[in-house]
Amino acid sequence: MEFILDAVLYLSQPLEAELGSFLSEGAKLLDKGAPKGQGAVLVNWLLEGDMLKLKIKSGTYVRPHDAVYRLRNYLAEKIGREYKTGIRSVKGVRYEISFMLEHEPKEKISIPFVKELNFEGKTCRILLLDLDEVFLRNNYVDRIISLIKEKVDEQAYAGKDEHHEITWSSPKKKHAGKIDPTEEMKKRGWIKHRGRGQWIYGPTATRIIKTMESIVEDKLLKSLGFTEVIIPKAVTWDVWKRSGHAKSIYNEIYYLSPPKSRDPAYWEEVVDLYRITGEIPLDKIKERMDYPIGGVSYAQCPPFWPLFSNKTLSLEQMPVTVFDRSGPSMRYESGGLHGIERVDEFHRIEVIWIGTYEQVKDLHQKIIDQYRLIFNDILDLEWRMAWVTPWFMAQEGLHGLADEKHVVGTVDFESYLPYKGSRKESEWLEFQNASNNGMKYPQGFNVKLSGGQQLYSGCTGIGLERWLASFLAQKGLDPEYWPKAFKKRVGVLPEEFILL
Ligand code: SER
Ligand code: ZN
Repeated sequence: MEFILDAVLYLSQPLEAELGSFLSEGAKLLDKGAPKGQGAVLVNWLLEGDMLKLKIKSGTYVRPHDAVYRLRNYLAEKIGREYKTGIRSVKGVRYEISFMLEHEPKEKISIPFVKELNFEGKTCRILLLDLDEVFLRNNYVDRIISLIKEKVDEQAYAGKDEHHEITWSSPKKKHAGKIDPTEEMKKRGWIKHRGRGQWIYGPTATRIIKTMESIVEDKLLKSLGFTEVIIPKAVTWDVWKRSGHAKSIYNEIYYLSPPKSRDPAYWEEVVDLYRITGEIPLDKIKERMDYPIGGVSYAQCPPFWPLFSNKTLSLEQMPVTVFDRSGPSMRYESGGLHGIERVDEFHRIEVIWIGTYEQVKDLHQKIIDQYRLIFNDILDLEWRMAWVTPWFMAQEGLHGLADEKHVVGTVDFESYLPYKGSRKESEWLEFQNASNNGMKYPQGFNVKLSGGQQLYSGCTGIGLERWLASFLAQKGLDPEYWPKAFKKRVGVLPEEFILL
């Protein structure tokens, strides 16, 4: 790594003085905190009127954008006392940096603030010009370097399959046929497609979903002692900054914007136009909308965490065990029709647990055991589990695994959809997951545990539409052929509406 910064310290007045001894004293501070002889070096300097020009060079330790402030602070005191002159501001005129990458980049990349970016094998060289204090002081430089490394890593991952390691499979089952549940339900009037990736579920489909929900209640939530909470579905930027989603999800958010004003007069033109034309004047509405405050619930659990942020939980009260089913999540999915299996508006029960390392690990296992019981004994599904890239990494744009030991991370539950093709070749449906999220959320939201142990957490999202799709794809729509334990719980199906 090599950093070369040309900076200017702007003085409060032009100065003619011999600053040599101050600067050579000040330069000694640039070694502090680094192994001997490996700190930053003041290469040369020049005083010109009210500008003190500095050239600072470093390797890995004491980067010039920090070093320049060490010098600034030292000099401010010295020349303040000696010449009654202050230092008004610092400017980075030119900053040249070269560093090594893990992979050779495959394509060009562009990065904000960077004027030139060149690769030579695994070496990256960047040039930055005209840097203000906000840039220098807030470590934008290190973040730019990390971002370049991450983008190059992403290129190396692109095209490779996601991490997916099957850890358990149920026995093969006999299925009702090759049923596409969406198509069959549509034919019978159980569901109707609405806007983009959104469906209306009539009484029968809803009854099945609610029966599944009641099974979850009995076999998982009640038996493991979870209590219900209501988590907001409008998620503000502060939450996504802390959860890491702000690093990646912009192309999938449904944005939430408030009106710029609540004054009816401000909206009068919109109202009038609609009344005359019968069309919604979208461009006029857009002009009157404020910046988005965030977006609609995406991963469901992050907006729970502000309840505890910057607080300490009591060890005696651990584990926290809660669940939410207070509303839908929304994602702007890639276009095309995927039936109820991939939708923009979907419904989940989101279950969250928080506690010590052992408690979180233990509950993760218990929850998986309960799912096993539900899918095997009640729904009689053909399904499997896979150890995958954890959702909390994937949603931040990261790859790989969190933990080689298979403790922290995500288990996906996947069902076989016979209508999609053979077991081997077709894509199975991820109908839910169960994750040990490690320290990610307590750290992100700064939540501590009394007694000083580290806090951990886990969550599992139960995708109700996908449970429905999995079940019907394997068992068909006729209750006669449904597993007894499930049929008993559903009772007599409601009558569908007759549409004349
Ligand atoms: N929060 C997790 C996810 O979004 C589980 O629901 O995948
Ligand atoms: Zn979650």
